[in-house]
Amino acid sequence: MKQSCLLLLLFFISFFLTTSACSNGNCQMLEPCSLATDCAAGLYCGNCPQLGKSQPFCIRGQTNIPTAIINGLPFNKYTWLVTHNAFSIVDAPLLTGPQRITFYNQEDSVTNQLRNGVRGLMLDMYDFENDIWLCHSFRGQCYNITAFQPAINTLREVEAFLSSNPTEIVTIIIEDYVHTPKGLTKLFTDAGLDKYWFPVSKMPKKGEDWPTVTDMARDNHRLLVFTSDSSKEATEGIAYQWRYMVENEPGDPGVKQGSCSNRKESKPLASKAASLFLQNYFPTIPVQAEACKENSAPLTDMVATCYKAAGNTMPNFLAVNFYMRSDGGGVFDALDRMNGQTLCGCVSVTACQARAPSGTCRNNEVRNSTSPTNPTRGFSGNVQLTASASRINLTSLLVTYGLYFFFILLVFYLK
Ligand SMILES: *[C@@H]1O[C@H](CO)[C@@H](O)[C@H](O)[C@H]1NC(C)=O
Ligand SMILES: *[C@@H]1O[C@H](CO)[C@@H](O)[C@H](O)[C@H]1NC(C)=O
Repeated sequence: MKQSCLLLLLFFISFFLTTSACSNGNCQMLEPCSLATDCAAGLYCGNCPQLGKSQPFCIRGQTNIPTAIINGLPFNKYTWLVTHNAFSIVDAPLLTGPQRITFYNQEDSVTNQLRNGVRGLMLDMYDFENDIWLCHSFRGQCYNITAFQPAINTLREVEAFLSSNPTEIVTIIIEDYVHTPKGLTKLFTDAGLDKYWFPVSKMPKKGEDWPTVTDMARDNHRLLVFTSDSSKEATEGIAYQWRYMVENEPGDPGVKQGSCSNRKESKPLASKAASLFLQNYFPTIPVQAEACKENSAPLTDMVATCYKAAGNTMPNFLAVNFYMRSDGGGVFDALDRMNGQTLCGCVSVTACQARAPSGTCRNNEVRNSTSPTNPTRGFSGNVQLTASASRINLTSLLVTYGLYFFFILLVFYLK
């Protein structure tokens, strides 16, 4: 009798375990999922076969906006998420012919990136088709097969975001190949972004603090724009990036564990001569399927390495590829820890308490890995990967890269 009771109990337990697997927005981070709607707010259902995961699980896809937790500090006290080549989106529509042959770095629209908490966009701009286009190219020349879209389209997305989120601040970092006189001025004005422009005259030039985020919102100076072209600061009032920012090396050197040195255009990281510090963290060749591995433990290690290399200065910007991919908390957990450390001396920004002395942490939230714990307090955007994001086709990847290199060779041969 006892035995059959036990069996019945076991039966019920196993029945319960197999059928009550979470669903309908109840699955927490790392819990197995099967549908996009299974995971809780701020999470999506993804995978990471590169780390030996055999089934989909809930992965974090949104930041905790640090100013929603600790507000009112100078802009340069915070760490913001930046998308490297924010425009180079898998499945972006083809506007210039039947085929694009280039690299991709992100998977969702710029609007969606902003909703998920991205606050910095790296954009490559070229003169093209009597306009300014976002393009992924080489030798300063945009081609039909490497073009994405007119830059104004993306800038209008930024305008819409800034206008509906009146306290948010966005930074745009331009790799600038535009030679049309006043081309960028016209572009930003036409996009309606001039009204948010942070004036270059107010930017700290000797490593001092920036205005507070509350002052920036009050003055509506909520768009920071930096160019790689030094001449444009004098001619168009667009800040020359290397006067205001230090950066480590982009590409493969930036993901090499244990070393973090400045890129050649930048002053040394520890020079304290610029008040903003951007950490590049993405390999030279972006591979979607590998990003979940890169954006996990190795990222945490590199943040620590760059922090030390910069003389114990926390990066203000963390620039990555495929920002939503990770083995769980990814770049979002990394940002929580970075902001937690600088804003309140706690393990995570979610442990910070407004108006409390540094080091006064919410002890129930002092843990390594957090879902966005309080979505109403943070930003409520949405998580969305493009349809092809979970199906990565190695053959098409190889064909694309093969064609790309062939194309480069051809161009050099014809020159
Ligand atoms: C390049 O793209 C433009 C559209 O932006 C189109 O008008 C032109 O015909 C294309 N050229 C070629 C060679 O496909
Ligand atoms: C965080 O994780 C590391 C290793 O994964 C562990 O050693 C450490 O104790 C954890 N810290 C907290 C606060 O849970």
